[in-house]
Amino acid sequence: MAQRILFNEVVTRDGFQMEPRFVPTDDKIALIDALGTCGYAKIEVTSFTSPRAIPMLADAEEVMRRIRRVPGVEYSVLVPNLRGAERALESRADELNLVMSVSEAHNQANLRMSRESSFAALAAVARFVDGRVPLNVSLSTAFGCPMQGLVAADEVLLWAERFAALGVRGITFCDTTGMAHPVQVARLVEMLLPRMEGLQLTLHFHNTRGMGLANVLAGVQGGIHRFDASLGGLGGCPYAPGASGNICSEDTVHMLDAMGLDTGIDLARLLPIARSLAKLVGHEVPSHVSKAGRIHDLHPSPPPRTANANDCRHADRPVA
Ligand code: COA
Ligand code: ZN
Repeated sequence: MAQRILFNEVVTRDGFQMEPRFVPTDDKIALIDALGTCGYAKIEVTSFTSPRAIPMLADAEEVMRRIRRVPGVEYSVLVPNLRGAERALESRADELNLVMSVSEAHNQANLRMSRESSFAALAAVARFVDGRVPLNVSLSTAFGCPMQGLVAADEVLLWAERFAALGVRGITFCDTTGMAHPVQVARLVEMLLPRMEGLQLTLHFHNTRGMGLANVLAGVQGGIHRFDASLGGLGGCPYAPGASGNICSEDTVHMLDAMGLDTGIDLARLLPIARSLAKLVGHEVPSHVSKAGRIHDLHPSPPPRTANANDCRHADRPVA
């Protein structure tokens, strides 16, 4: 049987971090509790960043304390530095998702330090955590940077290898502003797989230019079976110019389901949650399937049309 495709739901972290209207803490908790029953491998609950940098996630401690943890689901959190790691461990996160960018310009914009300073800070986090929980690292702008342009695969590999040497469990390759295309994804995956054996490799796409699901397909065909996705297609980094939503969870799961792949996600359970999202954030969300329904959700046939003057008027005239 084909390997299950595993999903990490990022709506309450990546999805919410750029939303203009604060989502109340109770609503975040209710959403995470509902998502916990849908079959996700992981949920990235929140981030332990500076509350001034990401005000939407200033309630990280309370959210982590009050969510109902479903056995088998890993509750992960984003961490940019040692202070974040301390807070994350106090909150009993199952995984710390460290973050830095492959491009210098985005690392400076997002984390206000050089890549080398970020790496040193994250190496200190790894020493501090000392195996108490698994570490993942998300490499932002791994396919392109909105300020510096194309990011070379060699450079991505270099940073991935440096983190692998720190003993991280997994690495996520993030297309922060939707610049990746399927051929590029296939090439990177082909380079990564033989060099990163034993590591959890995840792809994180944004659909900024409509290439998100094509990139997922390229990843799956290349042998990747872990993806980040955001309910409703919300998301984006507030410190990446031109950023917009992640690939949409329900659209991605629906596509893979239709292809006969196993995602472990109960789409019938997920869709009503996705449909409640627009109300929660106060605007339409870019999801397709929550509006159109699944391919097997058939519509009743329209009633037979009765002949009327309009239908017959031009019947005997050739089309101009
Ligand atoms: N949690 C809470 N507070 C933190 C913190 C953390 N992880 N890291 C730093 N701070 C606080 C400091 O205590 C300090 O507070 P004070 O001004 O009240 O004394 C303030 O933030 C500034 O600290 P400093 O070390 O100078 O950090 P900075 O201002 O250079 O910011 C980051 C660095 C990484 C903490 C900040 O840029 C950040 O949180 N960025 C968010 C990145 C992000 O999540 N992007 C989207 C996802 S990719
Ligand atoms: Zn993202």
